Amino acid sequence: MLVVDDEELVRWSLAARLRDDGHDIVEAGTAAEALDRAEHGVDLVLLDYKLPDADGLSVLKKLRDIDPDTLVIMLTAHRSIETVVEAMKAGAFDYATKPFELDDVAVRVSRALETTRLRRELRTLRESLSRPFGLASIIGESDAMQRVKTLVRKVASSPGSTVLLTGESGTGKDLVAKVIHYLSSRAARPFLNITCSALPENLLESELFGHERGAFTDARQQKRGLLEQADEGSVFLDEIGEMTPALQAKLLRVLEEKTFRRVGGSGDIRVDVRVIAATNRDLEEHVRAGKFREDLYYRLNVLRVELPPLRARQDDVALLAQHFVESFSREFKRQVKGISQETEAALRAYGWPGNVRELRNLVERAVLLCEDEMLEPADFDSLHTARYKSSGARNGFELPPEGVNLEDVEKGLVIQALERSGGNQTRAATLLGLHRDQIRYRIEKFGLK
Ligand SMILES: Nc1ncnc2c1ncn2[C@@H]1O[C@H](COP(=O)(O)OP(=O)(O)OP(=O)(O)O)[C@@H](O)[C@H]1O
Ligand SMILES: [Mg+2]
Repeated sequence: MLVVDDEELVRWSLAARLRDDGHDIVEAGTAAEALDRAEHGVDLVLLDYKLPDADGLSVLKKLRDIDPDTLVIMLTAHRSIETVVEAMKAGAFDYATKPFELDDVAVRVSRALETTRLRRELRTLRESLSRPFGLASIIGESDAMQRVKTLVRKVASSPGSTVLLTGESGTGKDLVAKVIHYLSSRAARPFLNITCSALPENLLESELFGHERGAFTDARQQKRGLLEQADEGSVFLDEIGEMTPALQAKLLRVLEEKTFRRVGGSGDIRVDVRVIAATNRDLEEHVRAGKFREDLYYRLNVLRVELPPLRARQDDVALLAQHFVESFSREFKRQVKGISQETEAALRAYGWPGNVRELRNLVERAVLLCEDEMLEPADFDSLHTARYKSSGARNGFELPPEGVNLEDVEKGLVIQALERSGGNQTRAATLLGLHRDQIRYRIEKFGLK
């Protein structure tokens, strides 16, 4: 701590008292001395307003240039409002008027130091939290992904706005949601997420909004919902398209008025959360079909990040594959270094219905099973199936002149295979030349029960 005053007696009494309180004190009698001492790093400066070689205000500005984190308490000779206002405007943390009570100064000092401590803690916390979810964790240099990353950076720096993430399953919506949160000024506050389709309406409602004691039979305790727990942070609402109309209305109110009520509650609760919503469905279609509120859709759609499917950014396939090879190799302590050229070509040509998630899973298995340094096409079972299918594609199915809806055809075949196998997924997969993961993926995609 630096005590700056040209009156030796003032300096001496302040320093003595603060040393008694256990602080480490350096003293300065002039502005020049003060700036020189500050170069060595100080947490807090007690700064006299009138110094022989400069006025305190200009010293204050220079101190803050040296280290914006240094807090300054101004010492003023008379209680002049203008001086105080000027000092506070220039960035002083606090002020004390002479002649001062030492106890009063001591309280101001400990308050300032507490502030410094909290700021530092916040910064370290923020840095450690954001490290695994920096922009660099989004792999991909294709034009489409560069646009996504630019947009993500912009979205992160406007921490008040709602974000809508769209894209097929496995394109990275979860990942991008985290990156947005941890890059934003909300990073040190919670990031909480919930999948809207995973819970029945009433449970989802009380998870999100909380409930009062006795709101329903099981509500023995009052409970704070996700929105309250995430105050000043972000809430990620996954599969927003599956939210029921009643909850959509309640969510709209949160977005518009920043208030809501707990289930069974009568008072409005105010929160400051950023909502990041995601869906792999066609929300516009949901709106047209009357399943999704149009006003909510427009409210969510202000900032939209669309994640392109992997098949539309073939250039990223090799980058992602290399990234996953390295990370799984490290994790499983294997010696796998990369993918061969032939593998790369095969991976690029593949359609990636499960997008990055599918690629990640395939690489994971390949790294586990591979005996060599480079992954060969043989290490990827699904690619065989894909090739086998393309060579046999003309057998049996003729594309009618008016064309087909491939998804419908696929869905129809999956249903038939499941019926024929009596619901046995492994056998149904064999009938379609697929792996069990692949048929599972389709069962989920088509919402088959
Ligand atoms: N660009 C990327 N760079 C690195 N990893 C990625 C990228 N995109 C996705 N991943 C990884 O792929 C996996 C699937 O991504 P994620 O869970 O974010 O997809 P999603 O879009 O949320 O899918 P779903 O709609 O099924 O929830 C995760 O392990 C994620 O970390
Ligand atoms: Mg997801």
